Amino acid sequence: MREMPEASQDLVVTSPPYNLGIDYGKYDDKRSDTDYLAWCADWAAEIRRVLADDGSFFLNVGGSPSSPLLPHQLLLALCTPDLFVLQNTFHWIKSITVETRAGEQISAGHFKPINSKRYVNDCHEYVFHFTKSGTVPLDRRAAGVSYVYKCNIKRWKHTEGSDLRCRGNTWFIPYKTIKSRDKQRPHPASFPPALVEQCISIHGKGPDTNLLDPFLGIGSSALAAKHLDIASFTGFEIDEDYLAVAQSRLAEDTPKDTPQGELSPNPDTKD
Ligand SMILES: C[S@@+](CC[C@H](N)C(=O)[O-])C[C@H]1O[C@@H](n2cnc3c(N)ncnc32)[C@H](O)[C@@H]1O
Repeated sequence: MREMPEASQDLVVTSPPYNLGIDYGKYDDKRSDTDYLAWCADWAAEIRRVLADDGSFFLNVGGSPSSPLLPHQLLLALCTPDLFVLQNTFHWIKSITVETRAGEQISAGHFKPINSKRYVNDCHEYVFHFTKSGTVPLDRRAAGVSYVYKCNIKRWKHTEGSDLRCRGNTWFIPYKTIKSRDKQRPHPASFPPALVEQCISIHGKGPDTNLLDPFLGIGSSALAAKHLDIASFTGFEIDEDYLAVAQSRLAEDTPKDTPQGELSPNPDTKD
């Protein structure tokens, strides 16, 4: 990133290593907390430098039941006068059960079972939305949802006649169902391209976006950039094997591979 021009990127969407001891190919995910947070402040300073003044930085980070403070510690390390302002907090929901008005129970997404008497299943991660000023306009309706009762579109002034309302900050985005983890998603901590697509959409610059992902992994954000036909994408990854997977995913990707929200009567599958 140090070689990239200042203010050259509109949008950064990324997910760094979380320091949870995850078994990456090359990167050692076990640092002391102090060392880890100082490293994060270091790359975040570079992100700030390459980001345009009206740019957005979406940071996906999860905790683990035994390290629940990690996302919040990272947030505090990045919200300093020299770095960023927290403008929005999104919850990436991976699995959910809702009850319809008719009393039917619908479960959706991947439910990753854990065996514990202390902790409940962790079904979400954070997506922190940072900007330089805290005042960057977004296109809230670009990732919006349509009204259930269409009569409200005319009745309510704030709809401005549009059949889309802001989706809010809970984003249900399941992983795509796969047959072979090793072949189709050979990385221990990837996010779905659809998560990045949602960030690109609400950022609101459309195809003119320059997108950066400093922790590319197997290229999920590059796939999102391709799906939305955006102007330029830059990614960095220290592991050549992951980079090779990213390249072949891009080459093999077809639009029908874009994950869709799946509703399933039995989502208790292991990720
Ligand atoms: C959480 S994963 C990102 C996964 C990615 N979002 C995806 O969907 O595939 C973090 C990645 O950062 C990479 N990494 C760690 N240190 C790095 C560095 N200094 N520069 C570039 N990549 C790095 C790791 O190898 C790992 O693949």
